Amino acid sequence: MIDIHTHILPSLDDGAGTMEESIELCRIAADDGTKTIVATPHSKDGVYEAKRDEILKMVETLNLKLKENQIDIEILPGSELHINEGLVGSIKSGEVLTINNGGRFILLELPFLFIPSGIDKFIFNLKINGIITIIAHTERITAFQKNPEIVAQLVKSGTLIQVTAHSLTGNFGARERKYTERLLKDKLVHFIASDVHSLNGRPPILSKAVERAARIIGEEEAKALVCHNPEQIINGLDIN
Ligand SMILES: [Fe+2]
Repeated sequence: MIDIHTHILPSLDDGAGTMEESIELCRIAADDGTKTIVATPHSKDGVYEAKRDEILKMVETLNLKLKENQIDIEILPGSELHINEGLVGSIKSGEVLTINNGGRFILLELPFLFIPSGIDKFIFNLKINGIITIIAHTERITAFQKNPEIVAQLVKSGTLIQVTAHSLTGNFGARERKYTERLLKDKLVHFIASDVHSLNGRPPILSKAVERAARIIGEEEAKALVCHNPEQIINGLDIN
């Protein structure tokens, strides 16, 4: 499996605090059957400002540590981005990291409580610049829970949707679980990811969520959300 949304790198944001914690999280992920993890520290949100070079260096260091510890996982670079006017420019110049530094797919975090006006135009503008948006933890955004038709419209215009494994297993509560199930039924989900932050919070476990998803959309389609689809995007390819 491939986990495309994680805060696995140490001390860059509100994710793993130390290298030891990062290694332990990777051990848990490996035991669950994950082979590849995209590190997506918060970037450009005005609070956490992990820089491209810091992220790339930390990815390299963690990969070396994993080898030393015989943990069979590869870490790839990425970031979790936020809406800001200069985003296309920052992506084009390479100032911020896209998924696997491929320049094509970005993980975008939206506000939880409201949908920014012009979000469709913002995402469309990225698209005409050759950048495809993946909306992070879509099921946890209250504004989408209240207006699910907006997600359907965004998907129709080429936006990709990530949901959180923990939501599907009910750990965020019934509302998040039910909305995730609805998104799955409506065929609006492209990825299940852990959004792991720490050993104390949600663990980097995907398999249980895949089992839940399989009950709704069948085993093959559920597996695609953690295997085929993420594999395509880390290789810069469309999902089909
Ligand atoms: Fe995140």
